[in-house]
Amino acid sequence: MRFLTGLQPSGQLHIGNYFGAIKPAVELQEKGEGFYFIANYHAMTTMESAQALRENTRGLAVDLLACGLDPQKCTFFAQSAVPEVNELAWILSTVCPMGLLERCHSYKDKMAHGFAASHALFAYPALMAADILLYNSDAVPVGKDQKQHLEVTRDLAAKMNDAFGQDLFKLPEPIISEVTAVVPGLDGQKMSKSYGNTLPIFGDEKATRKLINKKVVTDATPLEDPKPTEGSIILALYKLFATPEQYAAMVDAHHVGGVGYGQFKKDLFEAYWEYFRAARERREWILAHPEYVDDVLTRGAARAREEAQATLARIRQAVGLTWI
Ligand code: ADP
Ligand code: TRP
Repeated sequence: MRFLTGLQPSGQLHIGNYFGAIKPAVELQEKGEGFYFIANYHAMTTMESAQALRENTRGLAVDLLACGLDPQKCTFFAQSAVPEVNELAWILSTVCPMGLLERCHSYKDKMAHGFAASHALFAYPALMAADILLYNSDAVPVGKDQKQHLEVTRDLAAKMNDAFGQDLFKLPEPIISEVTAVVPGLDGQKMSKSYGNTLPIFGDEKATRKLINKKVVTDATPLEDPKPTEGSIILALYKLFATPEQYAAMVDAHHVGGVGYGQFKKDLFEAYWEYFRAARERREWILAHPEYVDDVLTRGAARAREEAQATLARIRQAVGLTWI
């Protein structure tokens, strides 16, 4: 079984990314063959400078390795290290109806957020389909927001099979974890960097303590009174980090009353800080050994490229791009 997923290098990782995408990818390393990459071609559609793209790409590699991607167990690489993906994206574009792309939420969303309508932003799903099909992926762990792109991928794979031969591509399945499908943000909406309501994975200790204290929204129940558990953002976040016993104790304390939100937020911070302790320590080590990151990405790229070239040779033959 081959699992593949990509993450865009577009800023500081938050715990929504962790529970929605990174943790599942780390767990799947044990269950099959993982192909994980940094989607830097995709990030070009919204990135303001070459320097930002370069720094974010490297930063994401460091953070993902710190979170537990293990290059001994998976193939970890940067998307741009395998330029073959662009050729496949072009080939897929030839069977991709305009209407399919026009319907994609992500494009409409970007327009609504004021991004200029570039061809790359519009064609984004075709490149994502190429990412997935180039490596013959069986399953793709993603958040709910990417489900539509998986449908586009399956559509394009089926169209290619119809046009050029039934066995050209496998139809990949999405894996969407219902448990952590949507991690709430500090304000209770979906956590997202576009909403400014995120809790970073690798935040500074003092700043993150302050962030939780100031930004997690609560109601105005007085300290001595029982507090509602339904819709509590503190509890929803605490559940992600605390042991079941700790979580049950906080629920009890809500029911009984006598404990204020300040204390609950303190407990939330402590549980969060402890949860990422090992990852933080690994990150320190990785930052002190930049050659380790270079080496991992170089080896990952070689392995991925080997696979990509084999697929592409097969596809070029099938679609008539060879003449001998
Ligand atoms: P953002 O919404 O902050 O821009 P991205 O769109 O870059 O995040 O998402 C990267 C990955 O993290 C995707 O697989 C996405 O589904 C997942 N993800 C992002 N936010 C959340 C969330 N609040 N809950 C669960 N998964 C999330
Ligand atoms: N579009 C994905 C996102 O924004 C990133 C991505 C690019 C991806 N290519 C992929 C995810 C292939 C899964 C498979 O999060």
